Amino acid sequence: MKTSVIQLTLDLLNGADMTVALEFNPFLRDYQQNPHGYYRTMRNEAPAYYIEPLNVWALFRYDDVVDTLRRPDLYSSRDWIRNTLGEYDPVPQVTNLIAMDPPDHTRIRKLANKAFLPGVIRKMEGDIRALIEELLDEVQDRGREFDFVHDYAAHVPVNVTAKILGADERTARNEFKRWTMDLLRAPSRSVLPQEDLDQIKRSMTELREYFTELIEFRRRNPGNDLVSVLVQAEEDSQALTADEILSLAFILQFGGSETPSHLISSSLLNLFDHPDAMAAVKADPAKTADAVIDETFRYSSPVHFVSRTATQDIEIHGQTIPKDSIVMAYISSANRDETVIEDPDTFDITRKGNSRHLALGLGTHYCLGALLGKMMCGTALTRALERMPSLQPIHETPEWMPSYWVRGLNTFPVRY
Ligand code: HEM
Repeated sequence: MKTSVIQLTLDLLNGADMTVALEFNPFLRDYQQNPHGYYRTMRNEAPAYYIEPLNVWALFRYDDVVDTLRRPDLYSSRDWIRNTLGEYDPVPQVTNLIAMDPPDHTRIRKLANKAFLPGVIRKMEGDIRALIEELLDEVQDRGREFDFVHDYAAHVPVNVTAKILGADERTARNEFKRWTMDLLRAPSRSVLPQEDLDQIKRSMTELREYFTELIEFRRRNPGNDLVSVLVQAEEDSQALTADEILSLAFILQFGGSETPSHLISSSLLNLFDHPDAMAAVKADPAKTADAVIDETFRYSSPVHFVSRTATQDIEIHGQTIPKDSIVMAYISSANRDETVIEDPDTFDITRKGNSRHLALGLGTHYCLGALLGKMMCGTALTRALERMPSLQPIHETPEWMPSYWVRGLNTFPVRY
């Protein structure tokens, strides 16, 4: 009697007591299309749950997710790269920032922060705006119907990240797009054919060679880009090594190239679904952009979960998570937790404290690109609406990507 991801089995046949078996399988399409009903049930019925097909433990409540992110001593990040990329880590010589725990993480993060200080990001704002205008010119040259995801939103972060890392020329930006697309396929490596795996490997090698040369070039010719800032970053007379810079450049590209695209598309969808909010944004884009972006982070979190490894047996909600298990902290579920967020299933850009969401993580590994991401997404959304005020969706029902990890629209046909 398998009818849905969460299945209530009533064992009435043999007259036994009613037993309720709960099953949560994030590979199922129904969950990927509409996860929030499932999350609500999991928060209420099984807040700590073993997902058999993935061999991981999942936590769904806001407070538990916060604890996971705030306790690196209990929930380590050490297996992040191994779980995500396996043998396709382009810089295996050093541990990546995202896979470090304190105190190692603290040193690298302090240095990397220098490339993301508000003043540094502000200096890049003009370039980012110009790039977004260029992308919108291309969209508008194509005609009055286009796919908002593939023709626009997906290009924004790849191009912005390439640009701010110092890969200015158009050809380099196109290479970046190819490398990024290949890199993002690595988490599915167990089901990919050999030729795709070879392609990922080739892209990793090219990416590595490209950044190695770029870092050397920027040592001699510093510019206004992040690689230059990283090359010069020093803390207590400690600078980053070449491999550390390479590893950081890679995680910036990986972290910064996809999720903002989902956020841009989801915020447009949310505005189409909420005409009052759309009217407010059109009336005053500068004043409302931050609120739309923050509420979309909460309501349509682009990342479902972040993963950690249990450093010891953990007792939680009557379950024991064994030492060395992978734990998925469902930030997307936490952001709709009714015990913490009032009326969580309503999209409300006037919501007080809407930046309390966990879509960008929390604590030690809080998203390094948060400020940049918000600025990029806010500008991409509001400029698209300013330049195409009659923008509207072509279909009623959106189709979400077939992914258990990220949440973004698969396609989004629009006209103006
Ligand atoms: C706008 C959409 C974005 C979302 C939803 C997002 C989400 C996240 C999340 C949830 C984490 C925490 C990971 C963890 O705890 O394991 C994270 C970390 C990170 N993000 Fe983002 N991110 C976004 C944009 C960006 C951008 C634009 C960049 C850079 C250009 C970036 C770079 C990073 C890096 C380097 C980390 C690791 C920080 C550390 O380990 O200390 N992200 N991001």
